[in-house]
Amino acid sequence: MHSETSPAPAVATIRFGSLTIAYDDRVLLPRPWTLLQSEWARELLASAPAGPVLELCSGAGHIGLAAVVGTGRRLVCVDRDPVACAFAEHNARAAGLQDLVEVRAMDLDQVGTDGAVDETYPLVIADPPWVPSGQVGRHPEDPLGAIDGGPDGLELARQCLRVLERCLAPGGDALVQLGSVEQAVALAGELTGSLRIAETRTRPDGVVVRVRCHRTTISESQ
Ligand SMILES: C[S@@+](CC[C@H](N)C(=O)[O-])C[C@H]1O[C@@H](n2cnc3c(N)ncnc32)[C@H](O)[C@@H]1O
Repeated sequence: MHSETSPAPAVATIRFGSLTIAYDDRVLLPRPWTLLQSEWARELLASAPAGPVLELCSGAGHIGLAAVVGTGRRLVCVDRDPVACAFAEHNARAAGLQDLVEVRAMDLDQVGTDGAVDETYPLVIADPPWVPSGQVGRHPEDPLGAIDGGPDGLELARQCLRVLERCLAPGGDALVQLGSVEQAVALAGELTGSLRIAETRTRPDGVVVRVRCHRTTISESQ
């Protein structure tokens, strides 16, 4: 673990879609399969209403950056880890997207709670930690705070859903990454209010669910 007295870990880079992404061992190694989430987001953005994209649990920022590059969309990245946020800012600059990307170092619980009128997004990307606490020992190379999803792995995903209730625009979509179809089924069973799981895409290393907001107006839920 890096500390004030130890040297900074070596910075590595990895290709992610058309981007070159920098990271080090204080953040999660960008996983190539997660390009699925970026590509699905690009599909949805092609017909989504105008507006920025929100990326929750952005880490080094690669999933959101690969989603918006070339689209002209603004991207707001949120992660509570300041090291991850510094990498996301660096990677946005490296992609030439610094004028379109805002990185916010904050906890999920704070997102959209200040009543700002522009805090709604037509598309949200979320990549919460989803490894059940009892299984994090299987991933000794990964930072604990990036993978520990609580007893059933869904604690942070539930927090993301609470953000969606606050921030997803009426008719908007969110792409939420989970660890398994079983987790997707469990989460679907807990959904209340205007959110519904519309589709699940699976890969050997994880799944992505499309969560739709079935509200048609902002005032309908207020
Ligand atoms: C699974 S990693 C995903 C990072 C990146 N998207 C990736 O693919 O490497 C989860 C991220 O969520 C962040 N995180 C964990 N708990 C959080 C919270 N309560 N609020 C905001 N960010 C959180 C971690 O710092 C970590 O960067």
